[in-house]
Amino acid sequence: MRAPVIAGNWKMNTTVSEAIELVREMRNGLDGVAGVEKILCPPFVSLSAIKDLIKETSIKLGAQNLYFEEKGAYTGEISPLMLAELCQYVIVGHSERRQYFNETDEIVNKKVRAAIEVGLKPILCIGERLAENEAGMTEKVVGGQLRSSLAGIDYTPDLTVAYEPVWAIGTGKAATGSQANMTIGFIRSVIGQLYGPEVASELRILYGGSVTADNIVEFAQQDEIDGALVGGASLKADQFLSIAKQTSELR
Ligand code: PGA
Repeated sequence: MRAPVIAGNWKMNTTVSEAIELVREMRNGLDGVAGVEKILCPPFVSLSAIKDLIKETSIKLGAQNLYFEEKGAYTGEISPLMLAELCQYVIVGHSERRQYFNETDEIVNKKVRAAIEVGLKPILCIGERLAENEAGMTEKVVGGQLRSSLAGIDYTPDLTVAYEPVWAIGTGKAATGSQANMTIGFIRSVIGQLYGPEVASELRILYGGSVTADNIVEFAQQDEIDGALVGGASLKADQFLSIAKQTSELR
């Protein structure tokens, strides 16, 4: 049985003081949600403060990105080791990184590898763009992203995959539960080809893209979907808490 995950990707939102306030608002409620892994992914600058705020709770912490080199002259970058001291998870290959910062599958592969090496748990994001979806290329695109991003990397149970169709991110136009379930089933079959059927049945695969308290059940109740990566709605304490609670109630 795969334990569901609800992860909040705050993106480039909240100052440190706003982040602290947001965590204070949701901390107790979220801590009380059983049977769901709850992960907050604030901006880098708030990781340290939030780490302290949630230390006696069941809430986990993640970063939104990392660089793949261990250390050195890479001005402005954050290394895997720096993060490993602060958090357990790291989002890798988010479509916004691919789109605005030219992250290729090759870079994503290096980042996944670097994260695993220091014991960080990567949440690997994949997803097709609108034009690719409309051209019926979804499986080709996500299958390709998955194979390239994981090429040469041994399986670890630390890995989580998030399927986020680009057209559904921040648009209010979520995929339907059955659409997402079908594509995630396909992603699971590719994982099976890469790592075998046992891994395919244990790997957690999340849906992301305009998930809210109003539609989470549609996703969380699907067989193949193991939770959600939530953007906009993770910035509202009551919404995020409700998403986690509803997921917990389905189990
Ligand atoms: P959204 O973002 O929930 O605001 O659509 C999801 C994500 O980008 O992870």
